[in-house]
Amino acid sequence: MQITPSQVSGRTARQVVVRPVLGESPLRAREAAAQLALPYHPVSRSDDIELVVGETSAWLETAGLKVAIRFDSAAMLHRRHGGQNELLGRAVGVKNDRHPVVFDATGGLGRDAFVLADLGCRVTLCEQTPALAWLLQDAILCAQVSRYDAVRDAVERMTVCSGQSEAQSLHAATVIYIDPMFPERKKAAAVKKEAMMLQYLSASHDGGESLMAWAWQQAIDRIVVKRPLKAPVLGERKASFTLSGKSVRFDVFVRNAHSTSVQQ
Ligand SMILES: C[S@@+](CC[C@H](N)C(=O)[O-])C[C@H]1O[C@@H](n2cnc3c(N)ncnc32)[C@H](O)[C@@H]1O
Repeated sequence: MQITPSQVSGRTARQVVVRPVLGESPLRAREAAAQLALPYHPVSRSDDIELVVGETSAWLETAGLKVAIRFDSAAMLHRRHGGQNELLGRAVGVKNDRHPVVFDATGGLGRDAFVLADLGCRVTLCEQTPALAWLLQDAILCAQVSRYDAVRDAVERMTVCSGQSEAQSLHAATVIYIDPMFPERKKAAAVKKEAMMLQYLSASHDGGESLMAWAWQQAIDRIVVKRPLKAPVLGERKASFTLSGKSVRFDVFVRNAHSTSVQQ
């Protein structure tokens, strides 16, 4: 994966700096700062968002808020068996003998991408925030040596791409998955914390409209959009069908030209 410094227009994201973990070799932190063209700060300062990089660990941190990505954490292993996975799988079109190739246009913390990879899909995750794309790539490398077979197996199907999804022209994917940021309500504290970090990091905050416009221009079979239950549909077109869970729904847009190859 090639990671380039963020050059996105519109709203300015908060500056990220890289710092090493106290008492560990600073080598990896220095390398990450150079690769991302981010300032390297050996010591913590309260105002920054820090990409903290240790010898074998890494996380994002600001003002006591810490967010790490671990695909074999207890929470992720628990999520492997959650009911929403089935819904996401159905929305994307997973069947016993069918595992669509997915382009996840809003990579974030890679949760949904991991679920899809765990269901057997090949997934490219695109993330516009370079530090987050770096963290996703690092999490995949860590998970490649996880003690859990299923985790190692799933991350083999995940690839990270750094930058804005709209810059990509898709040929191999059959499904585009979009999970734009939306105001968080009634969420568990841990989820709020992660959402807050993503908001701090995000440079573009158009609610997904430009992604939807771009997605319709790609040669894919379907677009799946994750929405809060009561949010309006993204874009101008009606969804082909919707799958609703307890707190979110998936709006599925099936391309007519390919409708013989995609079925709910
Ligand atoms: C709500 S989060 C996605 C969470 C993700 N589905 C997960 O399971 O962790 C949205 C993410 O999409 C990223 N994003 C938003 N617009 C983007 C774009 N145009 N291209 C690439 N990434 C984008 C944001 O930086 C943010 O990290």
